[in-house]
Amino acid sequence: MADLTTLFANKIRCPNPFWLASGPPANCADQVIRAFDAGWGGAVWKTLGVPITNVSSRYSSVDLNGQRMMGLNNIELITDRTLEVNLREIEEVKKRYPDNAVIASLMVDSTREAWHEIVERSEGAGADGLELNFGCPHGMSERGMGSAVGQVPQYCSMITEWVKEVAKTPVLVKLTPNITDIRPVAHAAKQGGADGLSAINTINSITGIDLDTFVPRPNVDGKSAHGGYCGPAVKPIALHMIQQIAEVGLPVSGIGGVSNWRDAAEFILLGCQSIQLCTAPMHWGFRIVEDMIDGLKNWMDEKGFRTIDDFRGLSLPNVKEWKNLNLNYKIIAKIHPEKCIGCDLCYIACEDGAHQCIHVDPLPPRLTVTPIPKLDGPIPATPIKIPRVDEEECVGCNLCALVCPVENCITMERVDHGIPSESWEQRSA
Ligand SMILES: Cc1cc2nc3c(=O)[nH]c(=O)nc-3n(C[C@H](O)[C@H](O)[C@H](O)COP(=O)(O)O)c2cc1C
Repeated sequence: MADLTTLFANKIRCPNPFWLASGPPANCADQVIRAFDAGWGGAVWKTLGVPITNVSSRYSSVDLNGQRMMGLNNIELITDRTLEVNLREIEEVKKRYPDNAVIASLMVDSTREAWHEIVERSEGAGADGLELNFGCPHGMSERGMGSAVGQVPQYCSMITEWVKEVAKTPVLVKLTPNITDIRPVAHAAKQGGADGLSAINTINSITGIDLDTFVPRPNVDGKSAHGGYCGPAVKPIALHMIQQIAEVGLPVSGIGGVSNWRDAAEFILLGCQSIQLCTAPMHWGFRIVEDMIDGLKNWMDEKGFRTIDDFRGLSLPNVKEWKNLNLNYKIIAKIHPEKCIGCDLCYIACEDGAHQCIHVDPLPPRLTVTPIPKLDGPIPATPIKIPRVDEEECVGCNLCALVCPVENCITMERVDHGIPSESWEQRSA
């Protein structure tokens, strides 16, 4: 039976890799206790620092075809509770749940003294590790913290160094995605002595504008500010950044759009040692962890993986630079007529948006006459036109299969049998 026990950075032990990310679900002891009772392996406490005043309202979202909160935007800041209260609660939780991981997320002014003090006090409360919040993209960044630090490699390594001067527990640096290339900051964190990286924090966003009031959402007394985007919509961006920072060689805690065990498995395949979630527990509650544990274990059993380490990072060698891809690999679309509903979406997409290699032939004249159903008999099936792929012209772009609403109605079939692999780099050598 698969074993999900996790040992992050060789020091932070927990029963499974699922951690609450720093945010509303990990705001206080009552929540973290209920989360641990539900099965979560760890929690990164809502960022500690000098308590702030939040605005109301704070969240807005993007729905997509019935999926509520496909993307979530927030303009919330760090904790609004005093450091004393948060630390007392961390201590209480750690005493009651010694086997679960509690990580203190930290953000204070950029002075050595302020960082030393909060590190020592957090560890004094029993935190198993520290996460430096260099990622918050709104509000705190205007005050020189959060992503204002995470966007400048020198600041990132300098503050990490300050923290490492006194820290006894593992130090994770939480990176901002609001940067052209995440790798220099990740390397800077390592240079500063970080024991691990967390990625990603939220992405700068304006989710939408009210067309009657002209005020972007969320509306704070007729005005708004850019916020941080997260939830399922950001998963592809997070996965890319996780893959990029793997080159640094530090343990990674993966964050961004994880909603279920499949998402988690993908992050682990790109090298993550633990997985953090914020939007999903905000949306569906702490109970989702049960399915995540069962689902991941079942999949691991099916695949023959006993531990997380058995499959961690297995996808990394499969991400290459474009120049190394095989130019001779060739697939073409195959439409399965028995599944086709005649919607023509593949034809239209290929005709207007791709390579004009799907054709819809006119029906034979006999079939174009719509049969008149007998009043008391079954309604005869209306003949449909099945699109046809011009196999010589098809470039194998996948667009038709992507737009087709019927599962497996269009499959992409390999046709380059026997042709040796050749990359652009090899061809131009
Ligand atoms: C309302 C809200 C508040 C957040 N507050 C914090 C915070 O205090 N500190 C922090 O490091 N990240 C904070 N985050 C970011 C999350 O920890 C996480 O990085 C991000 O939401 C992406 O994960 P997700 O897609 O699972 O939500 C917050 C996110 C949300 C939605």
